[in-house]
Amino acid sequence: MKDRQDIRGATRQSIPHDSAAKQVMGRAEYTDDIAEPAGTLHAYLGVSDVAHARLRSIDLSAVRAAPGVVDVLTAADIPGVNDVSPTGRHDEPVFPTDAIEYHGQPLFAVVAETRDAARRAAELAKVDCEVLPHATDPVSARDAGMPLVTDPLKLERGDVVSGFGAAAHRVTGRMVIGGQDHMYLEGQIAFAVPGEDDDVVVHCSTQHPSEAQHMVAHVLGVPSNAVVVNVRRMGGGFGGKESQMNLFCAVAAVAAKKLGRPVKIRPDRDQDMTATGKRHDFVVDYDVGFDDTGRIAAVEGEFAARCGFSSDLSGPVTDRALFHADNAYFYPNVRLTSRPQKTNTVSNTAFRGFGGPQGVVAAERMIEEIAFALGKDPLEVRRANFYGDGADDRSLTPYHQTVEDNVIGRIVDELEDSADYQARRKAIVEENAKGGVLRRGIALTPVKFGISFTATWYNQAGALIHVYNDGSIHLNHGGTEMGQGLNTKVAQVVAEAFQVDFDRIKITKTTTEKVPNTSATAASSGSDLNGMAALDAAEQIKARLVQFAAESRGVGEDAVRFVPNHVQIGDEVVAFDTLVKEAYMARVHLSAAGFYKTPKIHWDRAAGKGRPFYYYAYGAACSEVVIDTLTGEYRVERTDILHDVGRSLNPALDKGQVEGAFIQGMGWLTTEELWWDDAGRLRTHAPSTYKIPLASDRPRVFNVELADWSENREMTIKRSKAVGEPPFILGIAVLEALSMAVASVADYKVCPRLDTPATPERVLLAVERLRTEGARG
Ligand code: MTE
Ligand code: HPA
Ligand code: MOS
Repeated sequence: MKDRQDIRGATRQSIPHDSAAKQVMGRAEYTDDIAEPAGTLHAYLGVSDVAHARLRSIDLSAVRAAPGVVDVLTAADIPGVNDVSPTGRHDEPVFPTDAIEYHGQPLFAVVAETRDAARRAAELAKVDCEVLPHATDPVSARDAGMPLVTDPLKLERGDVVSGFGAAAHRVTGRMVIGGQDHMYLEGQIAFAVPGEDDDVVVHCSTQHPSEAQHMVAHVLGVPSNAVVVNVRRMGGGFGGKESQMNLFCAVAAVAAKKLGRPVKIRPDRDQDMTATGKRHDFVVDYDVGFDDTGRIAAVEGEFAARCGFSSDLSGPVTDRALFHADNAYFYPNVRLTSRPQKTNTVSNTAFRGFGGPQGVVAAERMIEEIAFALGKDPLEVRRANFYGDGADDRSLTPYHQTVEDNVIGRIVDELEDSADYQARRKAIVEENAKGGVLRRGIALTPVKFGISFTATWYNQAGALIHVYNDGSIHLNHGGTEMGQGLNTKVAQVVAEAFQVDFDRIKITKTTTEKVPNTSATAASSGSDLNGMAALDAAEQIKARLVQFAAESRGVGEDAVRFVPNHVQIGDEVVAFDTLVKEAYMARVHLSAAGFYKTPKIHWDRAAGKGRPFYYYAYGAACSEVVIDTLTGEYRVERTDILHDVGRSLNPALDKGQVEGAFIQGMGWLTTEELWWDDAGRLRTHAPSTYKIPLASDRPRVFNVELADWSENREMTIKRSKAVGEPPFILGIAVLEALSMAVASVADYKVCPRLDTPATPERVLLAVERLRTEGARG
């Protein structure tokens, strides 16, 4: 009998992304490629030019009189509720009525015959307002007495007072961790087509079609069943389309229903960067006590985040920062608090890692503090603090979940060998000791990342499979495709379940009409959740086919097996299509809705206790850099990565995710700098001023491996692990390597305390500071 591997595209096969060829040939359809019906209009946002003010009135007469303008929408045109807050806190108006809360805030939308006409007209409004004082960063906002956007979280375990009391050493410090723009290739876009009665169809670029649907319904004042949201694919989301599409969808839908014509809205890159949220920057105050061996005794930390003017997802983002402030380390006594600070900036949002990376950066800074204080290799300090595996008393997290699946020790050991860490570090220390202008650094950093939405109810998914009577299969699920390869992976699961070639499965757009009440494709959980839901649907149809096959041939159900592109029924082997046609003729139901919810998880936020994560994903990176101590410029010479994806659904796609995530994480920590001027205006709002990594910035040597021995000990889809976000955090290896190179100028006696992004400017300043301090000490 042929074995499973005979079908093309079973799980574990490295088949290419289903859209890869179409994408490189420009044939993959994005929202802006959908053929526009006659009469389509174009909208553009008019925005504020002050950071904080009381709004008196807006004179729109010049806007209305501009060529091509059909209408101007303000808050008064919203038939339902003027709010697009994703958590129902009602703190995010589509258009404000009395308060302007950040520079660049949308105040109205122009609708015109062409996008160019709308964009030009949007500049012509005269806004009358009383300017008020503003604060754009979390420290000055706190000093100014601005409120928090949502309740803070506190995680506490053990007794920090006695922990610090008993510790031989103690270091306190502050670290500023920068934000990040998503820089998706395809910007925000929404295209609304009005229908009869209350109906409207919105095509848009979103990770969260159900939320866009509910938000449009709410803003229009109609039930959700009147609104359909569709997305075939995104040109990148990275968290930036988990809630940020709401405004664009709302504006397009309101305009389309008001005017009875299709309306498209697509901001240009500058407006996309100023009017949509980004990764939260953090100011972390830490206090760590430890013994002579570098073992941590107590940790206290406060995590203040620049949330912007509204809550958006800042509550769960700042929560996740605390959930990762331990990284892979056991803190015997710990108290962590978040400070989701309101600021007069655009409202910050989800971004790959969702606050987790900021938490890990703080944990790694504390490790560095210990290492420099004790004169040890940071890797030794890391190892001394790793969690146990649940069987000991060093496995409890600050949120009282026991770490049971710990593989970080093995990952780090293997990478230390394969990257030849010890020998290279020794050589680098010797080379640096010669005192040259160029200094090298090397660092090996671990990652542990919790998988599941911390909002427990989000951990559910649905899928819909139709088998047509010619044997072709239509697959739909609640997840969205943003380049990560989710559709390919889920189709592989279904192909394997039916034992048919991957090509037999049609991957279709995500639509609220087929699978309702979906969660955002986020928290790296897309394939975990939707893969399981699709498998459930496939198993239902298979069970009916098995029953039919057994009855029709008079054999037991256990004599029916799905074999490559065929079904074996007793001694007979029939083609899959043939059996399907027979089943159809016998009136067998060939469609099924599947469902899945993650087991075992629960979380009590008020108590700060529970099991928020089903499992953890692990990884480690080793990076070597060289810096020029006269200019601060640097280069990444080599990076080795070993990452844990459990049993991979598709090793090629997973490796791609690891590589891309590492580079994106490296960019966040090195060159991507967001900068607001004194007027509260974001001045880095285009690729001219905001520097993402280029192809030429990739490590000169880049070795990426998956831990092929790893298997998820939980019953996830085919024992795989989520991959989307965790490897983003591997970029920290570059930051720590830079830190070592800088520290060499003061003989590794002073922790360089590099804030991020560690731009060449910051590296140079750190070198200068250490030279002065080192000479003094
Ligand atoms: N990969 C690509 N190419 N494009 C993206 O936008 N988003 C990341 C990650 N990988 C993203 C990506 C983020 S933030 C998440 S949460 C996951 O993909 C979401 O998809 P998944 O759950 O299917 O992994
Ligand atoms: N991760 C990512 N996105 C989310 C989460 C989360 O934990 N919760 C709500 N949206
Ligand atoms: Mo990813 S930040 O959870 O969309």
